[in-house]
Amino acid sequence: MKFFLDTGNIDEIREGIGMGMVDGVTTNPSLIAREKKDFESVVKEVLALVDGPVSLEVVSEDVDGMVEEGRKLAARADNVVVKVPMTMEGLKATKILADEGIAVNQTLIFSPLQALLAAKAGAAYVSPFIGRLDDVSHDGMELVEQILTIIENYAYECEVIVASVRHPLHVLDAAMLGADVITMPFKVLQQMARHPLTDVGVQRFLDDWKKVPKK
Ligand code: G3P
Repeated sequence: MKFFLDTGNIDEIREGIGMGMVDGVTTNPSLIAREKKDFESVVKEVLALVDGPVSLEVVSEDVDGMVEEGRKLAARADNVVVKVPMTMEGLKATKILADEGIAVNQTLIFSPLQALLAAKAGAAYVSPFIGRLDDVSHDGMELVEQILTIIENYAYECEVIVASVRHPLHVLDAAMLGADVITMPFKVLQQMARHPLTDVGVQRFLDDWKKVPKK
């Protein structure tokens, strides 16, 4: 399973890479805005650090604007993936960019049919937003399961990025379903590593070690 960090924060990315757990990074306009730096600086820093796929999102709303932005973003580095929203215009842009050999991450996917359209248009990745579905009482993980089945049924060359992840159980459920990629906030990666019984166990070993006679 590939782990992407869903962040534009350089310290988090550096820390995650140090853990050996970062296969790629996804960003979006909200995550960039959180950094309170200009887009250019964030992109430069992220691309300098990350070898794997880095999703950078277009902000135009029409197909021509999206394609123009997408081409510029893709030209920055071989590992750039152009993130395009799942709108009618976005779908058209995905088809054009994919036909040019540019990797597209179709984002804001909330239904299996949206994912089918994106895969058919040639998207390299689809990003179902499971947390936002859970937030409105829809089972986000059911969507992931449906998308995985559809992609497998037709052998689309499209990977599923489980996105809008809120907690470690989302990672567990996605892993049990065999999702290709999960993109998570750094906090969730840290939470996955922790267990109170591990901390208690380490402390007990250290306390007992003090009782061992030393020469
Ligand atoms: O990368 C996009 C997605 O993961 C957003 O998550 O927490 O804003 O629903 P969230």
